[in-house]
Amino acid sequence: EKVHSVVVKDSAEGSLAIAQEIADLIREKQAKGENCVLGLATGSSPVKVYDELVRMHKNEGLSFANVITFNLDEYYPMDKEAAQSYWFFMHDHLFNHVDIKPENVNIPDGTLPVEEIRAYGLRYEDKIEAAGGLDFQLLGIGRTGHIGFNEPGSAVNSRTRLITLDHITRVDAAKDFGGIDNVPRKAVTMGVGTILKAKRIVLMAWGQGKSPIVKETVEGEISSSVPATFLQKHENTTFVLDPSASAEL
Ligand code: GLP
Repeated sequence: EKVHSVVVKDSAEGSLAIAQEIADLIREKQAKGENCVLGLATGSSPVKVYDELVRMHKNEGLSFANVITFNLDEYYPMDKEAAQSYWFFMHDHLFNHVDIKPENVNIPDGTLPVEEIRAYGLRYEDKIEAAGGLDFQLLGIGRTGHIGFNEPGSAVNSRTRLITLDHITRVDAAKDFGGIDNVPRKAVTMGVGTILKAKRIVLMAWGQGKSPIVKETVEGEISSSVPATFLQKHENTTFVLDPSASAEL
């Protein structure tokens, strides 16, 4: 086993532990008068983490006033207000319920003309660097082995860019879009190289459906055919798994 992994009782326990680590980091940075730069993920996996963070804001006075966030990805093309947009997801699950400053929220823009995306990606990277780099990156994993939307074939040094979604990813997204024909064919995503620069990475995987890709990612050869295997190169990555997701390890 090449990646450090922790098996928790269930996704509720794992999500609480992850939220606690994020809250501790926010408070530690706050005490030093520093910003806390978080890389955030969408999908079903992080929902309970965001629920816990909202609860900590409401019940424990956890403040997001010093937090700057960068989301991993967005479908392309995608309007911000669309129900399936990651912009909507993040506001619905987290940002609308905490005291983060709107100007500190960064989510890849799914509305740009295609010819502007390359320069936009470079600016997104610059903005992460200018904020001091990602202190913490939260990740889910797709059945194709994607992190963010870095599908098979993504290079270890890839940067924020436009990608073509894998067929399996579009199948998995079909339920959210009322059928595969409505799922966008492309997305804007942080690159593998962008993700690997984070000082700390936590990947969560819940449920049986993730167990084959978790095994490949944790135990397999490092290869762009399973982009998540590049996490084996990162010094400070932990996989948080429930018993079903870890079943094949
Ligand atoms: C989408 C996101 C990924 C996420 C993946 C897994 O493809 N772009 O960042 O990790 O879904 O989704 P879920 O957590 O719903 O299984």
